[in-house]
Amino acid sequence: MASIIPVKEFAERRRRLMELMAPDSIAILPAAPERVRNRDVLHPFRQDSDFQYLTGFGEPEAVLVLIPGREHGESVLFCKERNPEKELWDGFLAGPEGAIERFGLDDAFPVSDIDDILPGMIEGRSRVYYPLGKDQNFDTRVMDWIKVIRSKVRTGAHPPGEFVALEHLLHDLRLYKSANEIKVMAKAGEISAEAHCRAMKRARKGGYEYHLEAELIHTFMAHGARSTAYPSIVGAGVNGCILHYIENTAPLKDGDLVLIDAGCELECYAADITRTFPVSGRFSEPQRALYEVVLAAQYAAIDAVRPGNHWNQPHEAALTVLTRGLIELGLLQGTVEDAIAAEAYKPFFMHRTGHWLGLDVHDVGDYKVGDAWRQLEPGMVLTVEPGLYVAPDNTAVDPKWRGIGIRIEDDVVVTKDGCRVLTDAVPKTVDDIESLMAG
Ligand code: GLY
Ligand code: MN
Ligand code: MN
Repeated sequence: MASIIPVKEFAERRRRLMELMAPDSIAILPAAPERVRNRDVLHPFRQDSDFQYLTGFGEPEAVLVLIPGREHGESVLFCKERNPEKELWDGFLAGPEGAIERFGLDDAFPVSDIDDILPGMIEGRSRVYYPLGKDQNFDTRVMDWIKVIRSKVRTGAHPPGEFVALEHLLHDLRLYKSANEIKVMAKAGEISAEAHCRAMKRARKGGYEYHLEAELIHTFMAHGARSTAYPSIVGAGVNGCILHYIENTAPLKDGDLVLIDAGCELECYAADITRTFPVSGRFSEPQRALYEVVLAAQYAAIDAVRPGNHWNQPHEAALTVLTRGLIELGLLQGTVEDAIAAEAYKPFFMHRTGHWLGLDVHDVGDYKVGDAWRQLEPGMVLTVEPGLYVAPDNTAVDPKWRGIGIRIEDDVVVTKDGCRVLTDAVPKTVDDIESLMAG
């Protein structure tokens, strides 16, 4: 499948980052390390999100170096050399030539030469941006390169004096998605929505949670999305009350709800959808009552996603609707204002209403600027995911509510005059879910 994000967009991102960097600085960013799964088997390789954002280069053992104003090219990649024998076993390598021709880097060298070449590139630059403290091995390598320069000060070498976390600059860029990024995320959302529909239609009593997980993976893979964005959560009955339940081994029982929180990863971008539906295809009265509260909270939160509103407004909107619903159904007492002030909703709703979404499922970007919540701006992508979870041992409420866990989650992009839901191809009203499951 051809990539949606063109090579020139990666070059544009590097250019924008270099504009933010001090003129006499250098940025150094390593690819993700490969990780052993067991003995000589590796985990499937997933590129580091920052590295992916700036290169689109999917190989390990590579280092990106950005050197604003460098005459022979500002964007430099160190990567593995081509090697027919290795490639016969492990697959195609781009090599430094391919990095330039196919990935649009200005200059490239074999990564085996980095210790000889990079200190010379750092020398004379006063500031080094790198992922400070993210990987101890890489911190050590950076300091080793610096030591090479320090050892030459008596011959006039200038070692850098400032070391700055690259993330400060880079993560703010990543927060604002381009039209192409939104296209990829919309596609990831569409595939994931189709997967949720398939799982809903195939849910049967007597099946197991992992049967539904298999249906999700089937649809992801069938569309070329080879990985999930995070381990799929398929929680039937009381398992729906465990926020990060990934065991997925319990039976599906008549009368239970199933909560599925799952999304695929496409071109390294995440989708993140949750739906909750009855195994039998019909909600019971208490399930429906709580479900309608969560759905109303989700609509209210989505309605609050628009430019000019701040990050916390969707959460506040959801909290009000959830708390009012809990009072009206008798799970909480008192006024909405008092219950919110006392955080009385917390036993039923203990997480936030969303998070930034992008290359990482819990994506980068600050939620506050100083002490103030961040304003929502076009191009920001976030999830909206209120829920209600009644613990099975919550003796403070009528037994009919106990063990019900519900979350409804969609992916939403802020637009010029509101927002667009990227994942609305999977039903979420009670009627639409019941008719999909009956069909
Ligand atoms: N799937 C993780 C989350 O919804 O935050
Ligand atoms: Mn989420
Ligand atoms: Mn989720």
